[in-house]
Amino acid sequence: MEKKFINKAYPHMLHGGDYNPDQWQDYPEVLSEDMRLMQLSNCNAMSVGIFAWAALEPEEGKYDFSFLDKAINDVYAAGGRIVLATPSGARPVWMSKKYPEVLRTNVDHSVNTHGNRHNHCFTSPVYREKIAAINKKLAERYGNHPAVLVWHISNEYGGECHCDLCKAAFRKWLKEKYGTIEALNKQWWNAFWAHTFSSFEQIDPPSWLGESSTPGLDIDWRRFVTYQTTDFMKHEIAAIREVCPNIPVTTNLMGFFRDIDYRKLAKELDVVSWDNYPAWRDDSSDVNLASSTAMIHDLNRSLRQRPFMLMESTPSHVNWHQYNKLKRPGVHALSSLQAVAHGSDTVQYFQWRKSRGSAEQFHGAVVDHVGHENTRVFRDVTDLGARLKKLDEIVGTPTEAKVAIVYDWNVGWALDKAQGFQNNDKRYRSTLHDNYYKYFWKKGINVDIIGLDDSFDGYSLVIAPMLFAISEEQGERLAKYVEQGGTLLCTYMTAMVNENTLCYLGGFPGAGLRKVFGIWNEDIDTLFPNETQKISVSGTEYVAKDYCEIIHPEGAEVIATYDSDFYKGEAAATVNSYGEGKAYYVAFRDDSAYSYMLLDKLSKETGLCSDFDGELPEGVTAHSRTDGENIFVFLQNFTKCEKKTSSEYKWINVESGDAVDGDIALAPYETLIIKRTK
Ligand code: GAL
Repeated sequence: MEKKFINKAYPHMLHGGDYNPDQWQDYPEVLSEDMRLMQLSNCNAMSVGIFAWAALEPEEGKYDFSFLDKAINDVYAAGGRIVLATPSGARPVWMSKKYPEVLRTNVDHSVNTHGNRHNHCFTSPVYREKIAAINKKLAERYGNHPAVLVWHISNEYGGECHCDLCKAAFRKWLKEKYGTIEALNKQWWNAFWAHTFSSFEQIDPPSWLGESSTPGLDIDWRRFVTYQTTDFMKHEIAAIREVCPNIPVTTNLMGFFRDIDYRKLAKELDVVSWDNYPAWRDDSSDVNLASSTAMIHDLNRSLRQRPFMLMESTPSHVNWHQYNKLKRPGVHALSSLQAVAHGSDTVQYFQWRKSRGSAEQFHGAVVDHVGHENTRVFRDVTDLGARLKKLDEIVGTPTEAKVAIVYDWNVGWALDKAQGFQNNDKRYRSTLHDNYYKYFWKKGINVDIIGLDDSFDGYSLVIAPMLFAISEEQGERLAKYVEQGGTLLCTYMTAMVNENTLCYLGGFPGAGLRKVFGIWNEDIDTLFPNETQKISVSGTEYVAKDYCEIIHPEGAEVIATYDSDFYKGEAAATVNSYGEGKAYYVAFRDDSAYSYMLLDKLSKETGLCSDFDGELPEGVTAHSRTDGENIFVFLQNFTKCEKKTSSEYKWINVESGDAVDGDIALAPYETLIIKRTK
């Protein structure tokens, strides 16, 4: 299998973090101490320049690269490499004062004053001109520097602007999408409440002050914000690529961040990276947190189907959780190596050194205010760095997954706006995790998290719960997947609306999927929070909660029935043979007992298993990467108790070279990295 490196000039795990020498210009002794400490801590990659625009361009058009020249040269001389940022995450004050159009306008039409960060207008020609100019300068100056491995474009893109420039851009985007205002009116069903537009110029973004009840408008606005943010990012990248075409680009993502469809944005990146800040508690809730964090790692790997970067994490604690607890001994390595287990080739931190003042002065860092290496956190980082150095053979290796779970931003947006069912929270993402993803995590089975426009080829099982919004074309592709031998599992709320939130007529599921599942969904019963219904499967009882759909088989075989209320005896889950494949439909939400039983059966049917053969006790999991010849398994214990397992295979401990087989004991919070030939 082809290895895919972040930058093949440096095929090692990257370890380091956000480094802000611009804050320390009056402290030359600190800057030289940083280099000694970087070497001592086994760090080899510093992310520089992320919020350094004011230092780099103190006056309009007057650049000063002296601090960055020194930082990049010093890091390189000390054996390190550079992740080089573009500074658009925060702008200098002179720009806001001279060009107020760069300031973000809120949904209530109030305009921000200067301050904070991540708050500019993505449409503003001035902002675009200024960022292109400085990006080009950075690329010209450092594009050929041997230290520079990756471009870190901006920082955590997000938010939206409601200024006139953005509104005009939205209307243009709508016009390109729909062609005519009549077509838009039809897809948004604007005859309702006299919402019909007669020109694109009449359309405003959704707002609590005005239009907040048109799901079609809302979902298109979300798509537009994704488009415009991505367009801004492309503009940043173009300025760099003009002079520096060969260094890969990334931007740091924020997990399942609701506001931007990361699948669209990630298409423009060479490498995906993300910022991970789980709040470990040192109690039994950590197991659930481990599994939900793993799902986000898998999402990031699946976005480009290649190793990703853990761009930020904290070496100790953050400053923005409600309670900022220290990581217990062992947890730092566990949490960091979890990212590597799921496909990361880096462990990067926010931040290298605590800032002396301002907002993040009490946020964890590799180097504390005390300034020396004699801290527990520094030792944790150093130890982890020593371990990462032994993982060269894993760098660049892909992950093989035979099961995919569909998480699609458009589905999430459509569910959020749908009035009906349970109104506050349809629990789309948590259902994906609690009822489906977590099963595979416990079993140590690799999972891809894919979107509706991704390829389904190669997966033995595709699970697409709550697939509420889907286009005809996406429905056809799913049908084809089943027809050609795939196994598909869907649930209640499947294919109720199209991509613009118009209901499918003629019976749910729509988008051509009714024949695939061989059922018709007549209605859905939304239960009150503490209500349940009974489900029966060959005499065994299961529990349904939240949603019970009333479905009618039209050729499908019934595999579970309702056993209470007025729908007692009706079908609750079905399977239908369609072409060479099978389509399962689960009409109710359960407390996970039924889903896990079904997933056991489907795993057997489709041959899914872990690359680790031993039993995985509660809180222990095993995820793998492979170079085609070897399988590398990360056995991880997310509990504070010793756990035991065993294996029939002959493994080698990747770090020590020792043989591992038979009984295996995992210390609290231990990660054991082992390999065997495939
Ligand atoms: C991230 C951000 C960093 C830093 C960090 C603190 O979201 O990108 O700049 O603020 O949070 O945890």
